[in-house]
Amino acid sequence: MSSLPDMNHEDHAMNDHEESAVSRTKRPWRRAVSAVGLLAGMAFLASCSKNSPQDTWKPKGENAQKIDDLQRPVFLVAGIVGVLVVIAVGYAVMRFRDRGQPIPKQTHGKPALEIVLTIIPFVILATIGVFTARSIVDLADTDGCEMTVNVTGQQWWWEYDYPVTPANQKWGIEKPIVTSGELVIPTGTCVLLRETSRDVIHSYWIPALNGKKDAVPGRVHENKLQADKPGYYSGQCTEFCGLSHANMRQWAIALDPPEFAKWVENQQRDAVAYAEDDTSPEAEGYRAFRQNCSRCHQVNGMQNADGTPTIAAPENNIVAGAVPNLTHLMSRSRFAGATFQLLNNDCNDRLVKAASDQLGAIYLEGVDSKCLNRQQLEQWLRNAPEMKPMYVKPDEQGRLRGMPNLGLSEAQIDSIVTYLQTLK
Ligand code: CUA
Repeated sequence: MSSLPDMNHEDHAMNDHEESAVSRTKRPWRRAVSAVGLLAGMAFLASCSKNSPQDTWKPKGENAQKIDDLQRPVFLVAGIVGVLVVIAVGYAVMRFRDRGQPIPKQTHGKPALEIVLTIIPFVILATIGVFTARSIVDLADTDGCEMTVNVTGQQWWWEYDYPVTPANQKWGIEKPIVTSGELVIPTGTCVLLRETSRDVIHSYWIPALNGKKDAVPGRVHENKLQADKPGYYSGQCTEFCGLSHANMRQWAIALDPPEFAKWVENQQRDAVAYAEDDTSPEAEGYRAFRQNCSRCHQVNGMQNADGTPTIAAPENNIVAGAVPNLTHLMSRSRFAGATFQLLNNDCNDRLVKAASDQLGAIYLEGVDSKCLNRQQLEQWLRNAPEMKPMYVKPDEQGRLRGMPNLGLSEAQIDSIVTYLQTLK
C-alpha cells in the first residue's frame, strides 16, 4: 500500500525533468537494498528448518539418498548460474543506466555470442537431464523389494495393510495386518508401497526415506521406502484434499528386523472378547464401545452378545468407506490422522528423541496408562469435529467424512477410554 502515494509522487515528478532524473538515479539503490533484505530474510527463514523432521536435505535411506545426490549438484549449478545472471544484470543496470546520454547505435544479432549462449545452457540442461532420468528410473525400479504394504489415502488419514504374500510371509505375516497413521517397516529392507485412494487425490511423502507419490482413486502407484537405521520419520499429505488436509499426517517407524518381527506377531493377535456377564470396568467399556463405535471401527476378536463376530460396516456410514481399525490402537503413538499424540509430552519426547538403538524397544512398549494422553483422547470422543475440521453435513446417502460428535456422556467416554487402553 505504501507504494501508492509514491507512484502518485512520481507521476507529478514526471513533469519536472530535474526531479525525475534524481528519483531515477536513486531508485536502483533502494531496490538493491530491498532485494538484499528480502534474500537475508529468506536465508533466515530457511535456517529455521535446522531441526525440522521433514528436512529434504537429510536422507535416512537409499532412495532419499539418491534424490539428495541429484539435488545437491543441481542446486549448486543452478545457484552458480543464478549468481552469474544476477551479477551480469546488476552490472548492465548500473553501467548502462540512463544518465540522459543519447540513444546508442542500434545493432541486430551477434551469431558467435548467440551460439555460445545456446550451447552452454544446452550442455548444462542435458547433463542434468541425463542424471535426473537415471534417478527416476532407479527410483521406479521396485523389482528387488522384499515386502509389500498397500497404502490407501482417504479423508483424512492413511491406512496401511500388509497383505499375505510369499514375500510378506517371510516376515511372519500369516494374517493381513491393517493399521493406520504409522507405517512400521524393517530397517535395511526395500518396502514396496502400493498407493491408492478411496476418495480424492492425496500424496504420500516421507522426506527422509523417499520422494512423494500421489495416491489417486482407481489407480495403484508404486513407491518404495528403505530406512538405514531404526527411526521415527515424519511426513504429511502433500496434495490438497479438503478441510483437514493439514491434519493428515503420516509416520514411518523403522525397526530392526527382530523388533519388527515382534511388532508383526503382536499385530496379528486378536483383541480380548469379554464375557457378557463380566462386570469389570474394561468389560463395561467393551460393551460401550460395541454399542457406540463398532458400526464403523473394527476391533478384531470383538463379539456380539450372541457370540458372533462384530463386523464394522464403515461403507454404510463414511464416504470413503473405511475408518481406522482399532485392534491395536495403543501400539501406535498417534491417532486421528496421526495428528494427535496418544502419548503425553514426556513419553512422546522420549520416543521421538530416542537414539536409534533404543527406539524399537520404546516404540514396542506402546501406550501404557502412565503415558496415555488421556485428556486429548477424551476430548476427541467428546467432539471430534471440534479438534479436526470435517464436513459435518452428511451426503445424500447419510454418510459422513469423519467421526461425528456422538453425544456420548462423560461416563461413556470414561468407560470407552478404559477399554481402548486394553487394545495394545
Ligand atoms: Cu490427503 Cu491432503
